[in-house]
Amino acid sequence: MHVPLRRLLPVPDGPITIDEAYAAPLGQRADRPWVAMCMVTSIDGSTVVDGVSAGLSSDNDSSVLLRLRSVADALIVGAGTARGEGYGAPRKRGQRIGVVTRSGSIDTTSELFQSGSGFIITTEQTEVDDDRVDVLRAGTDKVDLCAALEQLSDFCPGATFVQAEGGATLNAALADADIFDELNITTSPATIGGSGPRLFHGGGDHSHRYDLAQLVVDDESFLFSRWRRRAVQTSP
Ligand SMILES: NC(=O)c1ccc[n+]([C@@H]2O[C@H](COP(=O)([O-])OP(=O)(O)OC[C@H]3O[C@@H](n4cnc5c(N)ncnc54)[C@H](OP(=O)(O)O)[C@@H]3O)[C@@H](O)[C@H]2O)c1
Repeated sequence: MHVPLRRLLPVPDGPITIDEAYAAPLGQRADRPWVAMCMVTSIDGSTVVDGVSAGLSSDNDSSVLLRLRSVADALIVGAGTARGEGYGAPRKRGQRIGVVTRSGSIDTTSELFQSGSGFIITTEQTEVDDDRVDVLRAGTDKVDLCAALEQLSDFCPGATFVQAEGGATLNAALADADIFDELNITTSPATIGGSGPRLFHGGGDHSHRYDLAQLVVDDESFLFSRWRRRAVQTSP
């Protein structure tokens, strides 16, 4: 069966601002916070250039990240990203940033934790040396991310929208647990080659369907896509 096609370019509706395009998450849920990934990737799927994302990004891409941060109640990042991308205190008052780690090897002297906005998401047995830092515990050999989300309101009261900012290893764990409700992906107009991780790295196989909710292109050929997880069909 052929499904209908729509032309997205040339743009039918004229200009759109990043603030308009990313004014809110694509949905909300009653059972737990809505979780949306925000990442930039090259055309050939790499998420890093020389070990960090900066070489893939642009002013508009950064604005997308910041715009979505401005509407998110909490952010979560993997320990690798927290170490590599230099997370500081959030700009949004009251926003919290959870760093997911199995090892517990997190620099709690960083501005992120000194500001009080950072907290650690780890397993039941992982040792955390700094008793001034809030620690959310879920799971044994690795963090049980579904159980962690259920506890999130203890650390971020009233949170309805969580932005997951990578990296690829945490993304894979979130995807394995079928936690992503939304994917916000910037495709950088470059191929990178090499062996940098793609959006999901190190997880198991899965097949999750998403519906394209928005597709925007800028004059530098950066492509901004928003994908909503298709509702899982359950048997009657
Ligand atoms: N292109 C982009 O938009 C973008 C965005 C973010 C990051 N990045 C880049 O991606 C790279 C980092 O990605 P990465 O894949 O190496 O690291 P990552 O996903 O940021 O962090 C991986 C670490 O997170 C912890 N972790 C993840 N899932 C876990 C689970 N279920 N249970 C317990 N711990 C868990 C572990 O920490 P421990 O090792 O402490 O146990 C693991 O080693 C950096 O180079 C960064 O610059 C790119």
